[in-house]
Amino acid sequence: MANRRTPRRNAYVRSVGRFLPERRMTNREFEDMVDTTDEWIVTRTGIRERRILEPGLGSSYMAVRAARECLERAGASPEEVDVIIVGTVTPDMLFPATACLVQKEIGASRAWGFDLSAGCSAFVFALTTGAQMIEAGRYDKVLVIGSDVMSTIIDYEDRNTCVLFGDAAGAALLEPCPEEGYGVLDFVQYVDGAGGDFLHMKAGGSKRPASCETVKNKEHFVYQEGRQVFRHAVIEMANVSAEILERNRLTGDDVALFIPHQANLRIIEASANRMKIDRSKVIVNIDRYANTTAGTIPLCLYQAVVEENRVRKGDYLVMSAFGAGFTWGSALLRWWE
Ligand code: UT7
Repeated sequence: MANRRTPRRNAYVRSVGRFLPERRMTNREFEDMVDTTDEWIVTRTGIRERRILEPGLGSSYMAVRAARECLERAGASPEEVDVIIVGTVTPDMLFPATACLVQKEIGASRAWGFDLSAGCSAFVFALTTGAQMIEAGRYDKVLVIGSDVMSTIIDYEDRNTCVLFGDAAGAALLEPCPEEGYGVLDFVQYVDGAGGDFLHMKAGGSKRPASCETVKNKEHFVYQEGRQVFRHAVIEMANVSAEILERNRLTGDDVALFIPHQANLRIIEASANRMKIDRSKVIVNIDRYANTTAGTIPLCLYQAVVEENRVRKGDYLVMSAFGAGFTWGSALLRWWE
């Protein structure tokens, strides 16, 4: 089978955790802010409400809480963690990395770590990066976190973007799988930098540092050409989801759960159709949390594993994401517990 890797020891997801801000913001609230309706948002995106973090708390605040729950569920202590990888486009600050802030706050005294910037694909990329560290035999506990406070980079006067996003964090602890043939089995990932034109933040980096002008021009917010992003996302997320199945000689019927990035219900449905997977096996929570960028996949995983207790040993799970970059990818897991 082309490109099929045969890892010496797979990583598996030992436990999960999440953090959801308490404040719920409904579609109706946007009706007083911009020219939109609850009906437009629901029919075009599937979103009904989203969570918003209290101002003044950064991504690390949510990441720390998701990480703590994840470690508690595993019965693991922070000192045992070897590596912390935080996927985010909304770090507390440009440096130090949010991973360092999390390391200090949870007391992971032995860990090193870093942030991973891959837009909405960050959790999948972080999970596969952490899995490879475990496969390589060097580390035994890698904490993978996705955390984004999208409300801090959204222009709440722009109806094209403001209704789409929410705040949340999720975490997964990766460890070497005790049994062969389980855990993170495979992944397929891509970037296409040409997509950067359609989804980015214009200022605040080294090329265009923050100035009075950039603030006045609202260049520190998400810039998205929604239709263009949609066009690519709907094709590529579906393709990569089918690709991971095909190269592992699986069909939609073999898969117990499909965990898609939650950007738009129509993109999720297109991917599920392409995989020929029954709708009942697709985790959807975009209605409650909207697009939380690096948070979507771990929130879905948490829902499946903890809230719905519907994942069993031997189940095949496919995670797929598409985001800024463009970045996209799928991971195939066979559940072990
Ligand atoms: O996670 C990272 C990757 N991001 C995504 O995957 C997002 C992908 N894009 C999308 O999900 C969709 O493109 C959107 C939900 C952003 C937009 O849906 P659409 O069906 O593609 O709408 P559109 O951009 O084609 O806009 C249709 C109309 C436009 O009006 P005109 O030009 O036809 O008069 C928009 O101005 O809808 C208008 N519109 C709105 N109307 C009411 C855009 N946003 C709103 C809104 N309320 N909030």
